[in-house]
Parts: sequence; structure tokens; C-alpha cells
Amino acid sequence: MNALSPLAVIISLASLLPLAAVADESKGSVEVVHWWTSGGEKAAVDVLKAQVEKDGFAWKDGAVAGGGGATAMTVLKSRAVSGNPPGVAQIKGPDIQDWGSTGLLGTDVLKDVAKQEKWDELLDKKVSDIVKFDGDYVAVPVNVHRVNWLWVNPEVLKKAGVAQAPTTLEEFYAAADKLKAAGFIALAHGGQPWQDSTVFENVVLSVMGPKGYQQAFVELDEKTLTGPEMVKSFEALKKVATYMDANRAGRDWNIAAADVINGKAGMQIMGDWAKSEWTAAKKVAGKDYQCVPFPGTANAFTYNVDSLAVFKLNADRKGDIAAQQDLAKVALGEDFQKVFSINKGSIPVRKDMQANMEKYGFDACAQASAKDFLKDAGNGGLQPSMAHNMATSLAVQGAIFDVVTNYINDPQADPAKAAQRLNSAIKSAK
Ligand code: GAL
Repeated sequence: MNALSPLAVIISLASLLPLAAVADESKGSVEVVHWWTSGGEKAAVDVLKAQVEKDGFAWKDGAVAGGGGATAMTVLKSRAVSGNPPGVAQIKGPDIQDWGSTGLLGTDVLKDVAKQEKWDELLDKKVSDIVKFDGDYVAVPVNVHRVNWLWVNPEVLKKAGVAQAPTTLEEFYAAADKLKAAGFIALAHGGQPWQDSTVFENVVLSVMGPKGYQQAFVELDEKTLTGPEMVKSFEALKKVATYMDANRAGRDWNIAAADVINGKAGMQIMGDWAKSEWTAAKKVAGKDYQCVPFPGTANAFTYNVDSLAVFKLNADRKGDIAAQQDLAKVALGEDFQKVFSINKGSIPVRKDMQANMEKYGFDACAQASAKDFLKDAGNGGLQPSMAHNMATSLAVQGAIFDVVTNYINDPQADPAKAAQRLNSAIKSAK
């Protein structure tokens, strides 16, 4: 990474501008920028809002619509540049380090809360390292999502003559052919860059395995990016794309999920926030729908840890700082961890809860996820999601998104050339 990241350059301008003092409520208030706006996501974030308000603080909702968060991140940057960042924002993965180096995150805000609540003991080191900057917590992690899932409507599969959910790419193609022949949308999908790349990373994981995935998206290894397995992955992506709905352009992920829920489509490739839509529609895991690992990836777990970062506020905004601390304390508390993840489709980020999922009333999908998360923590199968900001800087991720989306939308595109393009785009974004 460059000595000064693009984010740092933009934000350094912000130091020239005064921070707005907006505290108006007596006990303090907290504005939270996030992108949880689908029905299921909103139900989840409302749990946090309710608790913070119960504790006597005002919640200012800074929701910015747009799955995957690209629009929210643009809004956040422009607010930071104009000297008016919110108290808290959904920031994830390596991007937290970029924000940390701008000096705008609060390195002292969470010190006492983290110590009192024993965050170091509650969290896996892999997770706590992500949310610390220079050894200090600058964000509170709220959950763990798994990205390598396939969501299936078993009723639709049955109608199309497919006996069971596919476990390999070949079985996936066979099932999708049958669904198509029976007049269903085989694969519900929204044509947005982050959704295209969510599919791509799953295909890469299936074709190349966890090790190849890591060499490609974490190490950004040139040989892997241009090698035969990557070409094979682009070939597979081309085939998978033939099963997507032709009217997918610009469609939100939750609308695609609704097509599967309502029986118009058979399957969706999406992280387990998709479950939040099934839950909101009162559907039951294992009965009305199935969650299975994306074909060929049962031995892996691509993780996506949502976290809420705290911005540095002027010391005279004592009430607002107290509100940030209250939110952080609530977010890692047992009650919130349970209710939030049940609504959101994720699993708790606390190790003690991951080991006792049944006790907390989690469904079959979440229980399987926690089991695999704990298991894969020990065998190299645990990999950060590229499409969900966990593996690279946002600049590199953006370069990957461009190549993948152009490729998916051009049926004539050549897989070998796409691999070359991927490598050069990543190189110039680094
Ligand atoms: C992910 C985020 C999830 C979910 C999803 C769709 O990046 O981690 O919490 O919200 O986007 O918006």
C-alpha cells in the first residue's frame, strides 16, 4: 500500500475545517451512518437503536441505502472532508486501518469499555486485530456473516424435478438447467458490482479452494491472478451468469431474494444477510428454505465481520462521547448479540456464544455457520470476503469489481484476457 492512502490524502484536507458541534440533547446523541435498509436489516439495526434510546441517548439515523455499502462510504468520505463526520459509522476490514491513519477515528473512546467488558477475551484475535488501530479499539465488531452460501427454495426445485440442493458446480449447472426448462428464473441476482463480485468470489473459492482464494485475493499474487485456475474461474463465472435473470440490471439484493422467497426463482448466491429477508417473511430455515454452502466450498468459510467505528469528537461533547461508549457496550452485550444476529442472519462475534448457539435459540443455518467458523479457524479454510471489504483496500476491491462486472455483462468476453485484466487493474490500484 502507498505511504499515504488515497483516503488519507482526501481526509487530510478535513483538518483545515472545524468539527461541527451539534450536541443538542441533554444526555447526548449519536449519529450512526450505516447501509442496513432492507426489511430484515432494518429490523436488526432497530434493536440497537431501541437499546441506545432506552439508555437515555438520542439516535440519529444516518442510513444510506445501497447494499454492500459503496454509496454509504462515498457519503462518509464527503462528510469527513467537510469536517462533519458522524459519531459512529459502519466501516469494515482493512478500510478501518486507512481511516485510522487519517487520525479521525477515536483511539481513546473505547479504552475503558473494552477493558471493563473484556473484549480481548470475548473476541478471536483475528477479529480484534481488524478493529484495532495501533493497538487501540477504534470500532466495535457486531457479528460475523458467512458469504459462501447458496439460498434455495426447495419447493421450486421440486417442481423443476431437482431432487436436492447442488453440492458441486456440475450439480449446480444441472439443477439450473432444469429450473430454466421448467420456466423458473434459475438464479436470482441483482446486477450491481458488489453482487457480481460476491458471485465471483464464490466461484473462485469453488474452483481454486481456500488456498488459491487466499493467493488471489489476500496476497494478490500475480501468478495466481493470471494462472490457469483463474482462467477456469472466469469460464465458470460465464456459465453461472447464463442462469441469471436477464432483467437483473441495478436490482437490489433483497428484491432478488424476494424472487426466491416468492417462488419465482430457485436459488440465490448471497451472504447470510439474505436470511434476514426470509426471517422477515416469516419463513423457517430447513423447512421453507435451505441454506447450503456454495457448491464446492463446504470446507471453507468466507467471513464478513460488520463493525461500527467511532469518530473522534471534541472533548467538550461529553454526552455524545458517552453515547458512543454506550452503543459500543450494548453492541457486544449478550442480549444484543443474540437478537441482532437472529434478525440479521449472521452469527454472534463473541466466541462464548458461537460455542453455544443452540442455547441462544439460533436456527439450523446459524448453528452450522458457527460450527464451521470455529472449525475453519483452525484449518486455513477461514478466508476474508473480497467483495465485502475484508480482504483488500477499497481501491483494490474497486478495481476487481470493475473487471468482474464488465466481464459478466459482455457474453463475448474472453476468460484468459479477463484474468490478465484483473491482474493489471489490481496492480495499478495497489
Ligand atoms: C454487507 C454487510 C452486510 C449486509 C450486506 C448487504 O457488506 O456486511 O451487513 O448489509 O452488505 O447490504
